[in-house]
Amino acid sequence: MNLYKYVSDSVSEKLGFVARLEVPRNRDFGDFSTNAAMVNAKTVGKNPRELAIELSAKISELDFVADTSIAGPGFINIKIKDEFLIKSLNHKSEITNHKSEIIDLDYGAYNVAKSLHIGHLRTSIVGDTFNRIARFLGYKTFSWNHIGDWGKPMGLVIAWIERLHPELPYFRDDFQSGTNVEYDINTDELNGYYPAASAFAKENPEFQARAQEIKAKFQAGHPGYVALYEKFLSVSLNMMQKTVQRLNILPFDYDLGERNAAKYLGDVEQILRDKNMIYKDDGAQIINVRRDDDNAPMPPYMWRDSRGADTYDSTDLAAVYCRKITDNPDRIIYFTDLRQSLHFQQLFRVSDMAGIYPYEKLEHIGYGTINGSDGRPFKTRDGNAAGLDDILNIANDAVRARVAESGKDLDDETINAIGLAAVKFNDLLHDVRSDYVFDSASITSFEGRTGPYVLYTAVRLAKVLSRAGDIKIIAPTQLSESERNLIIALLDFDNTVRSAFDNRAPDIIANYTYDLCQLINTFYHTSPILRDDIDFDTRVGRLFIARAAHTVLYTAIDLMGLIIPKEM
Ligand code: ARG
Repeated sequence: MNLYKYVSDSVSEKLGFVARLEVPRNRDFGDFSTNAAMVNAKTVGKNPRELAIELSAKISELDFVADTSIAGPGFINIKIKDEFLIKSLNHKSEITNHKSEIIDLDYGAYNVAKSLHIGHLRTSIVGDTFNRIARFLGYKTFSWNHIGDWGKPMGLVIAWIERLHPELPYFRDDFQSGTNVEYDINTDELNGYYPAASAFAKENPEFQARAQEIKAKFQAGHPGYVALYEKFLSVSLNMMQKTVQRLNILPFDYDLGERNAAKYLGDVEQILRDKNMIYKDDGAQIINVRRDDDNAPMPPYMWRDSRGADTYDSTDLAAVYCRKITDNPDRIIYFTDLRQSLHFQQLFRVSDMAGIYPYEKLEHIGYGTINGSDGRPFKTRDGNAAGLDDILNIANDAVRARVAESGKDLDDETINAIGLAAVKFNDLLHDVRSDYVFDSASITSFEGRTGPYVLYTAVRLAKVLSRAGDIKIIAPTQLSESERNLIIALLDFDNTVRSAFDNRAPDIIANYTYDLCQLINTFYHTSPILRDDIDFDTRVGRLFIARAAHTVLYTAIDLMGLIIPKEM
């Protein structure tokens, strides 16, 4: 249950006005406190302490309140009865059903014919966790992997393959779609093509022009280019699929990106033209999004570039339109690098001005950069920009080294689960908007605020419960301090998930989970369960608490998409 909500609603109802409850850092004096007396003293013409005495007497009448006390100038501390806490553990979460509210989530957004890089890590992890949180709270969500499959890289890659294999029939203008061509590309080859082609294009204007020409023809539906594109699209989709599995993120509801959105460009252009929103500027077609009260630069939105080609801007607007007619969502949330903030500002304005989708229902969550210890964007040891797989491999290596050092023997599946947890938990732990330093040694430590520590706690807890076997578990009748603290934290879970969602802050879940693990470990320490000298009643009472902790911890871990190994 949501203890915070229950207590604050009950207190407000009792007092006849809304009282804001605080959760004190130190819960020695009360489980909750309120400054209601200080806030209301003036209005009712009393001094705060005097009013606090009156209000606390009323609060004491609530059946779940053990006692109240007054502190400082008029804070009221509220202590909850143990029996109420114990009973509440049995109450199922009363999660609101928001199913009628639909949220489209745009994350992942990988690119065709380009390997996944470190920049795709946070969008995947944070986007996926946010999706899981929203679903847990009962929203209907659709995840869109808005793949980059339409722009400049397509022209470059096709032109590069033309250079390597000019004999392939794809490049002929009389190519018939449906023609079977004996030609295969593997992922490694494909990943090499874009960097090679773009480096070559920089030195070679003729090749650059050829790539541009190919891109334009491809976008216009040249059958040969489209057939070749389909070939490498499937290689790319395969690679994305592998990444989704490796990261243990939920499968996307749609793997549809720019190319799919481009189908709606005609409809959208009509809307823009009807509203006279498109201007010619130096051959390009632009939309002015500046407002008089802007004091930061607000460049125009690029509808078509000077060659008349579709742009990242235009397909993104068409994607909003497409989602509206596909899912008709109540909200669309984008998860990308913070450096795309201006683009989304512009997009949201254009969408609103065109009457396609309202500004206030569009949201961009921009995340910070993953840096190396030098404070610059993280690079691998050989100085190259890190790929997404590199990051996971580096973490796995660090785990393997630690495990070897401690003399344990864990299989690869376990090592990978620990490495993944290290990376994901560390990512979620940081405020989404801020940068962080990626340090494989510290994130893989089995102690401290880390993924491995969380997994270790979970594995240990599961083991205790399974070792206890099938005995009937009965609720305890009284609580020690560590038991009480643990139960209160368990009853905070629903409120924590709600607040992570409302604040768009998955770090709230990660930090909660760490604190919960600490309370679980303290509980073990002070309330041993399976030791021989523990009598039956005490044992089953403690098992009752351990079982409740297991449910919450496993749910929290699942919201972060971590995999719990069998052994650790
Ligand atoms: N594909 C882009 C990239 O890799 C991100 C796309 C984000 N989503 C969007 N609707 N613009 O940077």
